[in-house]
Amino acid sequence: MSSAARRDDAPGPDSAVSRYAEMQRAYYEHAARNNPESWVVGHYDYHERVPYETNLLFLHGDVRRPIFQDFRGRAAFDIACGEGRMVRRMRNFFQKVDGADISQVMIDLAEDRTPGSDFWVTDGISAGAAPSGFYDFAFCTISLQHICVFETRDLILKDICRILKPDGKITLQYGFSRNYPALPITPVQEVSPGVATQIFKIDQQHARWFDNKTDAQATNGGCDVVVGPGDLEALAGYFGQYFETVDFWFHDVSIGRGGLGQPRILPPVHPNSHMTDDCHVTHLMFIHGTGKKI
Ligand SMILES: C[S@@+](CC[C@H](N)C(=O)[O-])C[C@H]1O[C@@H](n2cnc3c(N)ncnc32)[C@H](O)[C@@H]1O
Repeated sequence: MSSAARRDDAPGPDSAVSRYAEMQRAYYEHAARNNPESWVVGHYDYHERVPYETNLLFLHGDVRRPIFQDFRGRAAFDIACGEGRMVRRMRNFFQKVDGADISQVMIDLAEDRTPGSDFWVTDGISAGAAPSGFYDFAFCTISLQHICVFETRDLILKDICRILKPDGKITLQYGFSRNYPALPITPVQEVSPGVATQIFKIDQQHARWFDNKTDAQATNGGCDVVVGPGDLEALAGYFGQYFETVDFWFHDVSIGRGGLGQPRILPPVHPNSHMTDDCHVTHLMFIHGTGKKI
């Protein structure tokens, strides 16, 4: 399915938010067309090894604490689903998994590769024409983290609430750095035996949670939203407007990058060590909400 729903309260086509969405759409469509395999934009093999299911579906990633006692018979929704990678993976748990994405190219691929699921193209600020009050669960991996505009993410979250059942739940993944808003601008450098330096600077490239960088000319790592330890209280307050209970947990991808007296020990593609050692993200952050308020 490829119709985008336009809400009454949606910003107009000339708004800064809509222009940002058009930049994103052009970026991802170009990337998808120019990637011979047209898989996920980014490091497909790496993300295939990250245990997203454990972190999306189990409180604190603890397999003793599933977010539902029974997943079968339930419906889940993947916001910004790309070519359907996580839709297919999550169908191992749920009865039905659907998705939406800003890119028509991605949705065409998702439909080809994932028969039996429904997909919608969105305007970049919604869940598209997905049905209201239908889903038990909505999730996101490696997509919302690339949206540096708070207003856009907020509109998407409101629309996710629309498509959830009254007792629906969410788990959304974001990028977290234990140092943010400081970002390393040099690798760890051993200056003498047992002594190392690393230079950090306050980030100007990416976005804080409430920033609206609608004039960003890059996405997918070029200008992301990054969460740091000092942001967690504000995030709990923000998500608390939409959900009675808000929980966070973190998957460490900073291990094995080497450092003072420590060689890089993990293989390049390993779920606990990000693909690139200079990645600013030290953790994948999972935000879980239950008890929808709107
Ligand atoms: C890095 S890919 C990840 C795809 C998928 N979530 C996965 O894990 O394989 C990012 C996806 O987000 C989509 N996207 C970016 N901005 C979006 C927006 N505002 N609304 C919906 N989809 C968006 C892109 O088209 C792209 O398919």
